[in-house]
Amino acid sequence: MFSLIRTLLFILPAEKAHYFTMDILSRLAAFAPTAFIIKKMYKSNAKPVEVAGITFPNKVGLAAGFDKNAYYVKPLSMLGFGHIEVGTVTPLPQPGNDKPRLFRLPKDKALINRLGFNNQGVDVVCNRLENINSSIIIGGNIGKNKITPNEKATSDYEISFKKLYDKVDYFTVNVSSPNTPNLRELQDRKPLTNLLTRLAAIREQNINLGKPRRPIFLKIAPDMGNSQLDEILEIVNQAGIDGIIATNTTISRDGLQTQSSVVEQIGAGGVSGAPVKDRSTEIVRYLHTKSNGKLPIIAVGGIMSAKDAQEKLDAGASLVQLYTGFIYNGPSLIKAIAAL
Ligand code: FNR
Repeated sequence: MFSLIRTLLFILPAEKAHYFTMDILSRLAAFAPTAFIIKKMYKSNAKPVEVAGITFPNKVGLAAGFDKNAYYVKPLSMLGFGHIEVGTVTPLPQPGNDKPRLFRLPKDKALINRLGFNNQGVDVVCNRLENINSSIIIGGNIGKNKITPNEKATSDYEISFKKLYDKVDYFTVNVSSPNTPNLRELQDRKPLTNLLTRLAAIREQNINLGKPRRPIFLKIAPDMGNSQLDEILEIVNQAGIDGIIATNTTISRDGLQTQSSVVEQIGAGGVSGAPVKDRSTEIVRYLHTKSNGKLPIIAVGGIMSAKDAQEKLDAGASLVQLYTGFIYNGPSLIKAIAAL
């Protein structure tokens, strides 16, 4: 059934198909009888998992970038996700890169995107989250505006962190998107230490004011060597960050089955889906081993089946997230993973 829907949707340009599908799902979710059927179809009897002090209803969440503006939280929550990571959100609204900026590589079960943090800005997202009547766990993925130079990046993250603090259950600090110029330089020792220490200090102030402690996760790129991963572990430990989300999309084009002329014509962007799976899993395993299993890791990257998700869990992940696998394989994948 889903493969027929996918064939039809894949006729549309990728970004249009996304909004088209989500609008239909929203309408179905807003109508009580269809909402009832959807919930019943995708309900799972998964065991809750506790990670960084939060009880997640199951192990599978929606990765950042799918619902950048927290617009589809309710319909998405009916599909059985245990958590939804909204964003990446920036302080000011911004349009992102010129279209087209999202491409499918069906032979590779992959996507290439260079969206560039298109989003409506933190104030709109805060408003929307305030009015969502849902018990699903919400992560707030934060980034910087394109116009903000890296030297001032910390203040962008601070703004969104403070504004979203009462609206989300955990935070993800995104310094790993390849589509905002120089963003990934924030993964270097000095800027990363400054950024994470500052956010942890704001959290401390909030705790002293009687607010709950919101876990902070760092989302990293798959294009890192082991020595850089060692450095990340050191910084995360020093700053008191709760865990790592591994990984974002890759800038590598290695091993793709799609004709290289087609890939070249698409141009810049991050590859997601099956081609990123193995490197992401290796990173999860490396971080888990190096931290003696003590650091919570959320695995994301190329999970196209329940078996792929099991591989990430076996490598040491506490939770998993989906993006591209959800596009290619539909919502039945969520239930299959939740049942693991
Ligand atoms: C993403 N991803 C992403 N990540 C992030 O932290 N902030 C974002 O805004 C986005 N935006 C985004 C848009 C699109 C179209 C895609 C395909 C991906 C990365 C995503 O959350 C995930 O880390 C990677 O895609 C790897 O997982 P999958 O897609 O292989 O399951």
